[in-house]
Amino acid sequence: MSIRENIDKVLVTEEQIRERSKELGEQITKDYEKEGEAPLLVALLRGSVPFLAELIKHIDLDIQYDFMDVTSYEGTISTGNVKILKDLDSPVEGKDILLVEDIVDTGRTVSVIRTLLENRGCKSVKLVTLLDKPSKRICDITADYAGFEIDDYFVVGYGLDYNQHYRALPFVGVLKSDQY
Ligand code: IMP
Ligand code: MG
Repeated sequence: MSIRENIDKVLVTEEQIRERSKELGEQITKDYEKEGEAPLLVALLRGSVPFLAELIKHIDLDIQYDFMDVTSYEGTISTGNVKILKDLDSPVEGKDILLVEDIVDTGRTVSVIRTLLENRGCKSVKLVTLLDKPSKRICDITADYAGFEIDDYFVVGYGLDYNQHYRALPFVGVLKSDQY
């Protein structure tokens, strides 16, 4: 049985993601050309990997990328406790950082990472996210570059998971309600 049978509807197609990534990549290229320095992309594992792979094809700058893996403790509110499972290999001091996320929901994860990077002395932190769920925002986070704004659905695919499943789907979809 294909896991696609568990998907209720497709919200964003592979083609839409490719086209939007191209637009975002071109905008990012323009913005950082003005800055005169290529950003260090910091991608949050594991969900952002497919989006990172598509996006970087469209950034015409000498960028570098690195990864961080973080997890939020269950049941926390406000600024939240985010635990670092894997830290960056690159120093960030003096660098322009572009955080790459799959989805910004409450904004807690990005908020904590941004503060952490700022405390390490980076020059700037911007955010690019494939998906934005503004209705669930708790923290004061606005994406500098957002692929698609979505309603308050639980979505999977294109890196996004439900208990580690569905990440490999080439589109973003909503799970059938009998699946969770
Ligand atoms: P935040 O800290 O609440 O903004 O949470 C962001 C993280 O929660 C994302 O990086 C995802 O890993 C996860 N997440 C939030 N919404 C969804 C969803 O609809 N599907 C899958 N993962 C989600
Ligand atoms: Mg995540």
